[in-house]
Amino acid sequence: MGFVPDFKKAREKAIEHIECKGLFETYSIAYVVTNENLRQLPQLMPKKHESVLSVVGSGDHPLWFSLYGAKHIDTFDISYNAKILMDIKVAALSCLNWCEYNRLLEDFYEINWFPCEHISSIKNMDKILPKLPETESEYIKALDNAKIFRTYCSPKKSESLPTFFEYLKLRIKVKKPYNFYLTDIKNLSNFITTSYDVIHLSNILDYVPAKEHKDIILPLLNHVNPDGRIIAHNLQYDMDEGYLNYFGASAKEIADSLDNWKYIQKTIKEPNTNIILKNGTHILERIR
Ligand SMILES: C[S@@+](CC[C@H](N)C(=O)[O-])C[C@H]1O[C@@H](n2cnc3c(N)ncnc32)[C@H](O)[C@@H]1O
Repeated sequence: MGFVPDFKKAREKAIEHIECKGLFETYSIAYVVTNENLRQLPQLMPKKHESVLSVVGSGDHPLWFSLYGAKHIDTFDISYNAKILMDIKVAALSCLNWCEYNRLLEDFYEINWFPCEHISSIKNMDKILPKLPETESEYIKALDNAKIFRTYCSPKKSESLPTFFEYLKLRIKVKKPYNFYLTDIKNLSNFITTSYDVIHLSNILDYVPAKEHKDIILPLLNHVNPDGRIIAHNLQYDMDEGYLNYFGASAKEIADSLDNWKYIQKTIKEPNTNIILKNGTHILERIR
């Protein structure tokens, strides 16, 4: 990835994002842990799920896809901080034990609350930094006291953190950083050079006006293998008012207008609130 981060801009943006003035962009704050129940993934994935393209988000999605047997995983995100966090998690697998890994994420979560601490104060960061590419460790050092990782969901053992056995499996399966494209989803198809069994878009289209969904999804369909799927989760923002930029209608319209595509809706349970989202997951399946 030929991207050269601008430390000054990253620092300014971190402040803007803390003040909730920005949506997602190159320096938006990364989620420390997933806000989804990734143990539901097997119910959503097609039978064959060897090759996956996933949004990074907290970095947990690619890890969980590896856990569930994917062999080739490419990732993308609009946020450089998301990539850094994903690389930290992968590096941590190679040098931290299970307790240390979970503690690392708990610490990333905690340092953002008062009294604010620096990233370098986090236990075991000294083991992780040398394992990252130089640009990334320099970036982390330069933004030591900026809030580049954050989430409102605290890491929970029963939800977002791996169990002991999941962690052991992850350590065996994930040996190197995931390939990454720094891009807005609107330009994602320009980067893709292959096709996948799963393209996973988690809570991205929520932030894109519904009238743009079709233009974003259509070019991606060419990169889905037969029997493969595009999976997109939708966030509900208000129990009475519904979803943020609902994707279901566009997904159904796409499937209805094309041969060989089927639209499937799945219920998901949000782990932090335990809210059941009846129309929360949208799947476009390519029929053979
Ligand atoms: C709302 S977060 C959700 C986190 C995710 N549910 C998880 O569990 O990790 C969405 C992720 O999509 C990324 N994102 C948002 N808008 C995007 C866009 N237009 N293009 C690419 N990535 C985007 C954000 O940077 C963030 O990492």
